[in-house]
Amino acid sequence: MSRFLILNGPNLNMLGLRDAGFYGVKTLEEVNAEIRVVASRIGVEVEFYQSNHEGALVDCIQEARDRVDGLVVNGGALTHYGLTLKDALIDCRKPFIEVHLSNPLARDEWRRHSVLSDIARGQIAGFGWRSYTAALEILAALVEEESQ
Ligand code: DQA
Repeated sequence: MSRFLILNGPNLNMLGLRDAGFYGVKTLEEVNAEIRVVASRIGVEVEFYQSNHEGALVDCIQEARDRVDGLVVNGGALTHYGLTLKDALIDCRKPFIEVHLSNPLARDEWRRHSVLSDIARGQIAGFGWRSYTAALEILAALVEEESQ
């Protein structure tokens, strides 16, 4: 069975308390529960990690590398400048989809550039928690197809 790491960066532990207009009302635990529902429906395993520290995210990616088939990554603000996170994702050599709850392109100027998008398989943004579940479904299908 394929296994995926759902990785969340800084401030995503505060979901539910952050601006609901951008991020919705669910907590991270509630978002993860929605992801678990989809994972069991499509028959894949998921693991979750969130940290407010870039180095901890790097440690997690390095450690998960041999165990997972791909990643769903919401880097939070690190998306826009986190080159250490980027290097870890490059070195990990597993496909990942960059996700965002909000649509960063429709927000502040500094959110319009992502340092991750050129190494991601793709981006899904602007659909709230559904960005994660859509990403998992697509990534799982790609990994399955490419293992044939
Ligand atoms: C975010 C968008 C980022 O610009 C922001 O810094 C976040 C969350 C999103 O999911 O919409 O923390 O990645």
